Amino acid sequence: METLQIKDKKFAVSIPEAEIRRQVKRVAGEINRDLRGREPLFLAILNGSFIFAADLMREVVLPSRISFVKLASYAGMSSTGEVVDLIGLDAEVEGRDVVIVEDIVDSGLTMKHVTEMLRSRNPRSLSVCALLVKPDNLQVDLDIRYKCFEIPNDFILGYGLDYDGFGRNTRDIYTVVE
Ligand code: IMP
Ligand code: MG
Repeated sequence: METLQIKDKKFAVSIPEAEIRRQVKRVAGEINRDLRGREPLFLAILNGSFIFAADLMREVVLPSRISFVKLASYAGMSSTGEVVDLIGLDAEVEGRDVVIVEDIVDSGLTMKHVTEMLRSRNPRSLSVCALLVKPDNLQVDLDIRYKCFEIPNDFILGYGLDYDGFGRNTRDIYTVVE
């Protein structure tokens, strides 16, 4: 088995490129169907979703726009102990069909904050599109309308996702091996 060493950890392919492409196409097809006649605004969460967003958008045949946002998180006085702020949002959200594009939903806390922030801007519709979901880790009630893969609770990287900043530039998705 071919492995990839990044810093102190070893990784092995868990989702090959062809399978990723298949699922991205499937999900794009669902968006094409659900938002037919609309002009969706994709909001891609940097950094992790940049490759997924590029591939997804090229499978979408609707007239669409994309904007890239970053999340800044800092300790604060919220129930979760963390406050998340959206930065770089330069697109009008009100009245739009917004699709949030995220690499991975783990505890779901980040996505919960993001959806709440965006909902307060009165989009026409708001949906979450995640490449990966770790259902066993979900701590909040979150409607993830579009998802490519549900995966077990192991650390993964590749196809945009990183370990300590590295490993984003692989075509396959890798899982850490003991
Ligand atoms: P959540 O708020 O716990 O859902 O955190 C989601 C964020 O954690 C993602 O956007 C990723 O940046 C990061 N993350 C969670 N699991 C992994 C993983 O297995 N590999 C790389 N990043 C991860
Ligand atoms: Mg992320």
